[in-house]
Amino acid sequence: MNITLNGQTCWAKPGETVLNVARREGVNIPTLCHMSNFSPTGSCRICTVEVENGNSLVPSCAYPVYENMVVRTNSPRVRRARKTIIELLVANHPQDCLFCVRSGNCELQKLTQEYGVRTHRYQGERRRARIDIASPAIERDPEKCILCGRCVRICHESQQVGAIDFVHRGFKSSVAPALERSLNTVPCIDCGQCVVNCPVGALTEKSHQKQVWEAINNTDMLVVAQVAPAIRVALGEEFGTDDGAVVTGKTVSALRRIGFDRVFDTNFSADLTIIEEATELMHRLEKGGPTPMLTSCSPGWVKYLEHYYPDLLNNLSSCKSPHEMQGALLKTYYAKKIGVDPSQIYVVSVMPCTAKKYEAQRPELGGEYPDVDAVITTRELARMIRAAGIDFHKLPNQGFDDPLGESTGAGAIFGAAGGVMEAAIRTAHYYLTGGTDMKSLTFSPMRGLEGVKQAEVTIGEQTLRVAAVSGLTNVKALLDDIRAGISPFHFIEVMACPGGCVNGGGQPQPATPEKLLKRTESIYQIDRESPRRNSHRNESVQQLYTEFLGEPGSHCAHELLHTHYVERDEF
Ligand code: FES
Repeated sequence: MNITLNGQTCWAKPGETVLNVARREGVNIPTLCHMSNFSPTGSCRICTVEVENGNSLVPSCAYPVYENMVVRTNSPRVRRARKTIIELLVANHPQDCLFCVRSGNCELQKLTQEYGVRTHRYQGERRRARIDIASPAIERDPEKCILCGRCVRICHESQQVGAIDFVHRGFKSSVAPALERSLNTVPCIDCGQCVVNCPVGALTEKSHQKQVWEAINNTDMLVVAQVAPAIRVALGEEFGTDDGAVVTGKTVSALRRIGFDRVFDTNFSADLTIIEEATELMHRLEKGGPTPMLTSCSPGWVKYLEHYYPDLLNNLSSCKSPHEMQGALLKTYYAKKIGVDPSQIYVVSVMPCTAKKYEAQRPELGGEYPDVDAVITTRELARMIRAAGIDFHKLPNQGFDDPLGESTGAGAIFGAAGGVMEAAIRTAHYYLTGGTDMKSLTFSPMRGLEGVKQAEVTIGEQTLRVAAVSGLTNVKALLDDIRAGISPFHFIEVMACPGGCVNGGGQPQPATPEKLLKRTESIYQIDRESPRRNSHRNESVQQLYTEFLGEPGSHCAHELLHTHYVERDEF
């Protein structure tokens, strides 16, 4: 059908919204509550446009086109309406932009600038609420909330957790856990998808920057950073690079300039995870189960299983997540190698994930000392780089320290959904064929942004049925099949965040499908360009087994690299 958009005729598909057509035509309409790929709620009305026939203002994100529709997106009436909406939102907002962590990257602040809101036109009673800081991963400031509901929809529709929802009515409306309890007293999985999708500063990560600066300034401590696979394809966006630009070398040099004594690569322990996990899978297949084995590198997913499917905990791989493995090795193997007491090593994980903050304080992840002392997100690292006065663009490219800095392409693809499975298949092939690498290392059934990917792969005598799932709403059917004893799979990768770590709760905001795609492409580019692409070919990992761990799955490996899980009645 044809519609007229700002005086121009353009085509549209029946059922499409005005917003979709406008975006395709390159017309920018502001949105707050709208989320691509989610059903529209039409709650904020900032996307208001004028429709001539009905002479009315309608929300373009929820309004379908019709034949010969005449739409104006930028008329004086539309601009006036949008400005009033912004003024009303601002009137019920604390306006403490000076202190807000989202200042400069806040969607409401940006709109006040764009629509010329310079004064408080509406003043009166303002909603008051307590800040919730009790969660180890996420802080919630209900006074800053603009009730767009993006967090509620992602938590319910994408993650099937429902830890937060709208409570009360009218002026008292807010978003909160049931009975307005703290996030740490409800079964929130700390994935941070609510944070990364929040347009303002109402939801933020629990910052570890202060303690990291203190450790750096403590000359008695050896402060060590490790960098997750998905950081290097997202950090640049904080400094205006192209979406998904690979900035590995600049990330390493930024961390050194901030003051870290050593900078290691979590991709190293991703390779190590593959060796341990593939060994565990072989063992389960030989012993007859329990299968399917479920991956355990996503702490939000692990917490989900502990809360909602505790009867399936034996299916979960006992492998710690890669950064916890790296932390354990830094305080044992590496400490011994360099002759430093582990009490003097402070490990900081730079992660795309808020759930890693929760994970790092789990008592079972560590011995005498915690494996990891602090976790900072991609966003926090960007803030530290700015605070240190570093010009990111002028940084030289530097390499990681050794020996926990070497990695392969298989370690790199942990950052994308399906990557762990692809890396595991490469190494499982090597083990099951008695030492032959796959001819083609790209395992395309595990690539792409679909929520559920499945494949059957025959290696030697063995046929493996595998799946990779991201976004927890997609995992429920598979878990119900395991519970019912009818799952056809041997091995399932699960990532809490849709699209995997590239779209983690600690990544740069705003999170858009376009950015996710670019970051994912860059992850595979790193793999393609790596001189080694199989985890079992990582020479530093081989050296680690020879010098310290013994065999994959050895007693020492189990002591340091594996863990156990608990049913969570308590949160
Ligand atoms: Fe359309 Fe909020 S973005 S109503």
